[in-house]
Amino acid sequence: MHDLSHIASIERIKDSQNRASFLRLDMNENPEGLPLDFVESVKRDITPSFLATYPNDSAFLQTLAQFLDVSQKNLCATNGSDMAIRYCFELFGRKDSTFVSVYPTFEMYAVYCQIFHLHHHKILYRDDLTIDAQEILESITDDVSIVALLNPNNPIGNVYTKNEVEAIITKAHGVGAIVIIDEAYYGFAPQSFLPFALKHENVIVLRTFSKLFALAALRLGFVCAHPKLIAYFQKIMPTFEVNALALLFGQRLLENRAIIESLQQTQEQGRKTLIQLLQQAHYEYQTMFGNYLFIRPHSDVAIVAQQLKEHGILVKTYRHTILKDMIRVTIGSPKTMQEFF
Ligand SMILES: Cc1ncc(COP(=O)(O)O)c(C=O)c1O
Repeated sequence: MHDLSHIASIERIKDSQNRASFLRLDMNENPEGLPLDFVESVKRDITPSFLATYPNDSAFLQTLAQFLDVSQKNLCATNGSDMAIRYCFELFGRKDSTFVSVYPTFEMYAVYCQIFHLHHHKILYRDDLTIDAQEILESITDDVSIVALLNPNNPIGNVYTKNEVEAIITKAHGVGAIVIIDEAYYGFAPQSFLPFALKHENVIVLRTFSKLFALAALRLGFVCAHPKLIAYFQKIMPTFEVNALALLFGQRLLENRAIIESLQQTQEQGRKTLIQLLQQAHYEYQTMFGNYLFIRPHSDVAIVAQQLKEHGILVKTYRHTILKDMIRVTIGSPKTMQEFF
């Protein structure tokens, strides 16, 4: 067996508990899920013959292309956007090159750095939890093969301006690096940078159906990029990358814009409700964009998180210094936020 020490040293936190019976405010899923009548109507199409047939993603991709107003050639569907991130590293992460992102960020970026032998150049948040886009720009040197911009970022919901993103894309292009624009929290941000993926050959936009679209269980994400890049993804994917249930639910949801709008409205109302409750009780909180918010509890974070768990509510805590005194709470409907509070 060849040397696997770089794999053995990867730190993975596997959540072994069954979260189903909890109010899940720890992983930025949609806490309430899709309307039951919508789910029931889609389920009616799941016949024995449907389940016996290998999946085909063409109808889903066609609907997605219409929804986004892009060509189907710019798209490919993936088994969650996590898998799309992995493919980006497999394809474009040159061995021993550098990956640039802010830190802390979505934890799988660091995992893929270790698997694919990339050095992780971490741009730390400032103490006030803002990001210095200039520092990202300056870190793009010849040894960089991938830059990731999460818009909004996870865990802190900072967003970038168009000018900042454009400057980063141009600099990355100059050194032959690709820019991943991770829009997992699309729908909770003031703008999308999807048009950059259509314009620049070194830009890859990733989105997921796990957050706003409330389909985390099904594992559905997609890549939007230049057709030349999409062709590379298609070459390395398994024959059937996304399962048929995910494609079916994804397609039906995209055909139902009213549901998507309602999910967005519920989220906005939930955010307002939670902020009002926090203000009334004099809690310090930090909110930018994304379907999550940081709260500084009045007593010890670990104890508060444990007590919430004993009351059937899961929230996220961080070991990282700038976040260690806060809990992160996923935002749900006003009713969910009242229950949490
Ligand atoms: C920024 C970001 N990107 C990607 C993902 C992966 O999402 P999924 O694999 O469910 O599509 C997540 C999940 O939390 C995330 O926060």
